Amino acid sequence: MKLTKKERQMYGQLSELFALVQMLIVTGTYWGDEGKGKIVDALSRLFDLAVRYSGGAGAGHTLVTPDGKKFIGHLIPCGIAQGIRCILGRGVFFDLRRFLVEYKDARRVLGKNLPDVWIDKHSPVWTKWHELFEKWLEYSMGKKKVGTTGKAIGPLAGLNVLRAGLQVHHLYQNSGTMRTRLQSLYRALKPDFDEMVRLRIVKRKDIPLPIHVERDLMKDAMKIRHMVADTASELSKAYTAGLRVLFEGAQAPGLDIDMGTWPFVSAGHSVAAGAPIGTGLPLSAFAKAVVLMVMKILPTRVGAGPFPSELWNRKDSELFSKEHPELFKNTKARARFLAEKLALINSGEATCADWGQYFQVLGYELGATTGRGRSVGLPDLMWLYYTIRINGPSYFALTRLDMLSGLNSIPVVVGYVLDGKRLPRGEMPDTDDLTRVQAVYERWTCWPEDITGITQWSDLPLKARQFVRKFERRLGVPIAIIGTGPRRNQMIVRTCKN
Ligand code: IMP
Repeated sequence: MKLTKKERQMYGQLSELFALVQMLIVTGTYWGDEGKGKIVDALSRLFDLAVRYSGGAGAGHTLVTPDGKKFIGHLIPCGIAQGIRCILGRGVFFDLRRFLVEYKDARRVLGKNLPDVWIDKHSPVWTKWHELFEKWLEYSMGKKKVGTTGKAIGPLAGLNVLRAGLQVHHLYQNSGTMRTRLQSLYRALKPDFDEMVRLRIVKRKDIPLPIHVERDLMKDAMKIRHMVADTASELSKAYTAGLRVLFEGAQAPGLDIDMGTWPFVSAGHSVAAGAPIGTGLPLSAFAKAVVLMVMKILPTRVGAGPFPSELWNRKDSELFSKEHPELFKNTKARARFLAEKLALINSGEATCADWGQYFQVLGYELGATTGRGRSVGLPDLMWLYYTIRINGPSYFALTRLDMLSGLNSIPVVVGYVLDGKRLPRGEMPDTDDLTRVQAVYERWTCWPEDITGITQWSDLPLKARQFVRKFERRLGVPIAIIGTGPRRNQMIVRTCKN
């Protein structure tokens, strides 16, 4: 695949920036969907291995290969599109059925460039029971439900902690071991399943017996046998040999089981500290690791949970995207809609719903896994101070800066007020209190020019450069990469020269 001049330049700048980095951890910043896939994809060329350390099939990333073919990944690291060896580390919740579909799709798209993929032998394994159990938990929580992706991430993590269920290696032990484990899990969950049947949440015939679960797993187990490994040991060898490793965080700190907005979180360790836990590499291997946080200029959230800078709301945003599919395609209606809303926003007459809809449509904010419409928020310095404290980034990659083109100005959250008191920077209140905080805003000037596709810092309009500089001054962390459009080469890399 021949690179364009712009791509050669971009890869050269990235390689200058990360020249001395052997271990790079890429994480999100807010609540996921920040464009990590595109950044990881660009960086993968510099690394030998791409490793996922948390999350499961609920994560979603749309990938475009160097020759323009597209596929959506959930479990396999984004590095696959660049053909580097991919590892699903121990912290990944493994769904065999979905993995096979994804792998087949990757093979269709990558052909002979499909790299090796390794699966950790100790990852927890999905069964239909996990899915049913998640349905039951969500039902039981009623209005307080999490609004999960439905991929059983919570039950996979929770039952693993309870030492129930299977791990990948059980698929290859004698069938007695596997059968006993499946029977125990079924026995533990059966009273809940019976209650689900009684309440007509599920039909009895849709609850598989242990023998059916075993049969389904065994049908596919041999297809991945050659990929199953002790990835902790393999990674240790790779590290010692000096190979360069890129760790891909799934989701983002706001959805981390411990550091996020519990209980409205996913169930893995998506913060940077999840990398040693989710791979089995020692802390010493990360002594010189660099953390790169990917931040979308306008955060989004799906599912329930606090979102202090939210413009509109989750329910209406989801409904809006369902009712107006034409606005999320390249149509005349879309162009007209965006032009009208932008004029309204710049006139100062727009409501919060107008702002939310404008950005939702402009950013094609639909989930890659569930297709749900994402609710959009404003840049939030208070949340950023918190996640910087937790993640310790060396750099930010700021994606979708082009979304602010044409706006006169944008409100930016610079403080939270709780019960009349302004909260100190970096402090994050409990989830219930976080839903009650009032955001304090400052207006930051934007720029009239369309910056889509700009690849040089010096080509950005002065006001856009001032915006970025102000942002990084406030954060105290350099913004090294700036996304200016969806395509692979639509990004600016800021090396020490600018
Ligand atoms: P779960 O990971 O399916 O358990 O979902 C828990 C919460 O995290 C829900 O609010 C989901 O919408 C959210 N979530 C999980 N994965 C993603 C993701 O990849 N992007 C954005 N939100 C996610």
